Amino acid sequence: MWIPFGYLIAAVLFILGLKKLSHPRTAPLGNRLSSLGMAVAIGTALVQMQFGSGPITNWNLILLPMGAGALIGLVLACKAKTTSMPELVALFNGFGGAASALVASAECWKFVEASELALPDPFTKTIAFGAAGFSAIIGWCTLTGSLLAVLKLLGGVSVFGKWWAAPTWGPAWLNVVKVLLVALVVVLTVALVNDPRDARWPILLLASSSVLGVLLVLPIGGADMPVVVSLLNSLSGIAAAFTGFIINNPLLLVAGSLVGASGFILTIVMCKAMNRTLTGVLFQPYTAHASEKLTRTKVGSDPEEVAMVLDGARKVIIVPGYGMAVSQSQHVVKEFAELLAQKYDTEVKYAIHPVAGRMPGHMNVLLAEANVPYEQMVEMDDINPEFPECDVALVIGANDTCNPAAREETGPLAGMPIINVDQAQHVVVVKRSLGVGYAGVDNDVFYLDKTMMLFGDAKTMMGQLNKALAES
Ligand code: TAP
Repeated sequence: MWIPFGYLIAAVLFILGLKKLSHPRTAPLGNRLSSLGMAVAIGTALVQMQFGSGPITNWNLILLPMGAGALIGLVLACKAKTTSMPELVALFNGFGGAASALVASAECWKFVEASELALPDPFTKTIAFGAAGFSAIIGWCTLTGSLLAVLKLLGGVSVFGKWWAAPTWGPAWLNVVKVLLVALVVVLTVALVNDPRDARWPILLLASSSVLGVLLVLPIGGADMPVVVSLLNSLSGIAAAFTGFIINNPLLLVAGSLVGASGFILTIVMCKAMNRTLTGVLFQPYTAHASEKLTRTKVGSDPEEVAMVLDGARKVIIVPGYGMAVSQSQHVVKEFAELLAQKYDTEVKYAIHPVAGRMPGHMNVLLAEANVPYEQMVEMDDINPEFPECDVALVIGANDTCNPAAREETGPLAGMPIINVDQAQHVVVVKRSLGVGYAGVDNDVFYLDKTMMLFGDAKTMMGQLNKALAES
């Protein structure tokens, strides 16, 4: 009686937590509610193991890994900067998938190890081992796919001082290999259902699903990474739901389904924001583009010159991007907006691109941290028509999300909707160099006559601009 009640409370807390996560103002409460839900879930599972399926004989086997896991999670969460959140999320997705796959594989292995263990009736056997097979496929696939995604988000890895760039590769024929691998894992699952006592099936499933995970993520790169990270998040939830079904744990089934469904909705939202289809992202062959040689030059401006352009501005739109997150300049940007409003009664808005930064809602979170009023943060589709009447578009560490190369028919950014900063009367770009953004494409906006480049770290340059503005 108490155990279903505990699971019910945990499920309600998860659902409330998810609901609250839908707005930056309520998101911290959402996180706390979900953590509380997880604590209730773990406590209830332990009570169920002790008093339901039979007393726990060796608490060390449970408490030691739990303690180690909690410690690793705590250290990772405390050390990770906001700019490395996507890597952390991708890593958590991968570990979630692996945990589900391990539990599913252990359920199968029981029958390999103990030949005296009676197999369930044919119908239950088909359902149970079918679910275990799918959990293993999705789980291992999520693990290897997520590890490659982490590598891509980091750009590569340094081994003994040598830098190995993350690979992106995928000719059209690779799609045939992927389809054949999917067919193979289905055949292996059928074999597992037919003969669960044969150790080869779980091992072959592990190997083929792991390769499939790598091949699925290998051709994806550049601006499509947000889609693949949210898809992997969804897959880790689906693997957990299958595992909940196998071990007969209703809460794992509910929690896995919530993660699977919300991750999938986010994937579709991301695809729409990037003007992509999910099949396009997953199966479009990768065509390598020669990394852009930056041959053009542009003379930088100084903060005093920019302050003169801002003199008397009626409307300024700030376009934040990944560089604002790196430099942690959100507070000094907010001071800039306040200064402008006080001095010239300027209307200031922030243009938010759905994939600016490195995680969904990245800019909203940073600006909310600096107490920027929510009504000043305007989504891309709503703010774009306002650029022709805007005196200055101030781009802070954004690049791909305002790169007109996206309007062309080919290239890594082709088709992605952008923030139309080039339609403003003047453009000011704050970044350290003329260097490319995440997708590696040179940006024509930097070279426009109406563009002023303020070269330097965004926090330092915005501080200097504020000083120049105050003194002007
Ligand atoms: P990016 O295109 O990544 O460009 C960021 C720019 O910030 C760089 O060109 C860099 O130029 C500048 N920068 C870096 N550190 C800086 C600092 N300390 N001070 C000033 N500038 C600095 O940024 P974006 O426009 O936000 O676009 C995001 C990209 O990431 C998109 O391609 C998107 O698809 C991809 N992505 C997004 C996500 C999610 S979910 N949002 C996840 C994965 C990938 P300098 O080096 O010259 O300073």
